[in-house]
Amino acid sequence: MAKARAHTNIALIKYWGKKDERDRIPLMSSISLTLDKFYTETELSAADQDEFRLNGKRQNDQAGQRVFSYLHRLQKQFHLPWQHLQVNSINHVPTAAGLASSSSAFAALAASFNYFYNLHLDKKQLSQLARMGSGSASRSIYGGFSIWEKGHDNSDSYALAIDEHPTMDLQLLAVELNTHPKKNKSTQGMRMAQSSPFYQTWLKRNDLEIKEMQAAISAQDFSKLGQLAELNANEMHAINLTAQSEFTYFEPETITAIKLVEKLREQGIECYYTIDAGPNLKVLCRLRNSKEIFNHFQKTFPNVRIVQASFGPGISCLD
Ligand code: PMV
Repeated sequence: MAKARAHTNIALIKYWGKKDERDRIPLMSSISLTLDKFYTETELSAADQDEFRLNGKRQNDQAGQRVFSYLHRLQKQFHLPWQHLQVNSINHVPTAAGLASSSSAFAALAASFNYFYNLHLDKKQLSQLARMGSGSASRSIYGGFSIWEKGHDNSDSYALAIDEHPTMDLQLLAVELNTHPKKNKSTQGMRMAQSSPFYQTWLKRNDLEIKEMQAAISAQDFSKLGQLAELNANEMHAINLTAQSEFTYFEPETITAIKLVEKLREQGIECYYTIDAGPNLKVLCRLRNSKEIFNHFQKTFPNVRIVQASFGPGISCLD
C-alpha cells in the first residue's frame, strides 16, 4: 500500500493546446501557483480487479477508465508486471471552489505509483509521469510557483520549481459562480481553440509572457503578476471566442464578476482575476485587501461560496 498527497495549482500563464495529445506535450510553457486549501489524497494497493473509488464511491465511468489506462501504461513503461490495482482517492477540492481537481488527482496518483513500486523517481521524473495523466498535474509536484517547460517530447517536457516557499504577499479567492458541468472539456476546448486566427499570435507571445511572469515573481511584484495573469487569461478566452466555431466558458455571472474586479480596482482596491476552462473566477489580491474583496463578492453574489487560499506545498508521501 502507498499513499500520497498533492495540491491543486492554478495557472498564471496558461497551458491551452497540445502538440501531442497522447503524451500531453504542450504547445506552450506555463507557470502556476500551488494552493494550500485544495488537495487530493490517493492510496494505491494490489487488488484482484481494478477498482477506483473517489470519496468512497466506486467509479465505473470514464474517470475509472482514464485512471486505469494511465496506470497500466505506466506499468508497461517501467517494465512492471501487469497487475490489478485498487485506487482510493479523497478529493479535498470542494466543487464549490470551482477548481479543477485533475492537477492534484494525477500528481497524487503519479506519486503513489512511485512509492508503491519503489521506483525512487526524482521530482522531474514524477512531473513527467503526472503530465501523462493530466498536463496541469505536472506542476502540482512542487509547492509555491512552478514552471512547466514545454519541451519537445516525453523526455524533456516537465515542470520545475521556481520558488517552493514564496514570501510574496499573495492571496487567491476562488469564487464559485456556476457549477453546471461544462460543455467542452479541456482537451476538446484546446483542440477547438487552435482554429482561432489569433492562436499563432498568442503562441508567439508565450516566451515573452513566461519571461515577464518570472521577472514579476522574482521581484515579488504583485501588481505586475496580477496584470500579466489577467492578460494571459483574457488572451486564452479571446482565443476561444474567436475559434471556428466559437465557444466560451463564460456565463453571465462571469462578466458580472469581472466588472466587480474592475470596479474595485477603480476604487483603489487592487485585485486581478484569472479564469480557467470554466465560468468561475479566481481573484488575486494582497492579504490586507482580501477581507474587503471577499465582502464585496459576497454582497454581489449572496449564494456563492468563496474560498480563500494561498501558497501550498508540493507532493508528500503519507505512509
Ligand atoms: O491539465 P488539464 O487538461 O486539466 O488542462 C488545464 C487547462 C487550464 O486549467 C485551463 C490551464 C492550465 O494551465 O492549468
